Amino acid sequence: MGAGISILGIFVADTAYLAPRMPAVGETITGSGFSVGPGGKGSNQAVAAARAGAQVSFISKIGRDTFGDLALKTYSEAGVTPRLVIMDDQPTGAAFIYVNDSTGDNAIIVYAGAAGTIGIDDVEAARQTIEQSAVFVTQLEQPAAAAYRALDIARRAGVVTIFNPAPAEAFPDEIYGLCDYIIPNETEAAALVGFPLNTLEDAKRAGDLLLSRGVGAAVITLGARGVLFHSAAASVHVPAVTVGPVIDTTGAGDAFVGGFASALGRRMDPLGAVRFGCATAGIAVTRRGTAPAMPTLAEIEAVIV
Ligand code: ADP
Ligand code: NA
Repeated sequence: MGAGISILGIFVADTAYLAPRMPAVGETITGSGFSVGPGGKGSNQAVAAARAGAQVSFISKIGRDTFGDLALKTYSEAGVTPRLVIMDDQPTGAAFIYVNDSTGDNAIIVYAGAAGTIGIDDVEAARQTIEQSAVFVTQLEQPAAAAYRALDIARRAGVVTIFNPAPAEAFPDEIYGLCDYIIPNETEAAALVGFPLNTLEDAKRAGDLLLSRGVGAAVITLGARGVLFHSAAASVHVPAVTVGPVIDTTGAGDAFVGGFASALGRRMDPLGAVRFGCATAGIAVTRRGTAPAMPTLAEIEAVIV
């Protein structure tokens, strides 16, 4: 088993529009801000983990275009090792992000482009990278079959596996048994278990169900309410970390996953890793944007008491 972290996921160029509200269909409204930046859950998680001090390889596919150049620049600046296939006949993924200019709430459309074609062959081509890492992370923005194969490769190699079932898409039930940690947010957990997570008791019930399906531990993120860590050995509610006014919660979950993975990579115990993830996300939500909002190791350590 290696030392670093490998992440399979997608890159998209986040095009973020600030506005007082979402326009209705057929309506045009005036916005109050705009930015283009690097996004995609897997890519954000890779940047978060690298900025948090881990050695990270990011496995994905992009197009040969300006958004693809943005991806490469992002990895060179964050110190992420790119393991990318560059396609000539597919665009780099892109996302439309509406951000409410007073509450920071968001609504998102993602088109994966080249990364939407990630298949089992692409995962097999990255087998060594996965097998040589300490921790492997994936999500559901690329096809579920690719996530399944990659988790299977990691598990057989004794690599710690983290599955972030986001967005809430269907996936093969066999994936549960391959997860050391499943990390859904509240909405994704509700979709998996079939009931809403209104209370901490509901979250524990959801955690029990996920354990019964074969995961090692359920790490359910609850937004400003923090995280429920739920395993056979312990069920612990870890509060969110507040370091200042919340500006933009886009990518909070990615900051948490990246921070959590980087901490596990340094052999921190799971609860310590959850606290580290909460600190990472707690800082990220006080800054606009996703990848550019990810804190450094020194910044995270400064808020962990
Ligand atoms: P997602 O971004 O996937 O919807 P969550 O909203 O659950 O995920 O956020 C993930 C984590 O980010 C939370 O568990 C918490 O630690 C942190 N977080 C989210 N919102 C806030 C907030 N308003 N203040 C502090 N931390 C937050
Ligand atoms: Na942010």
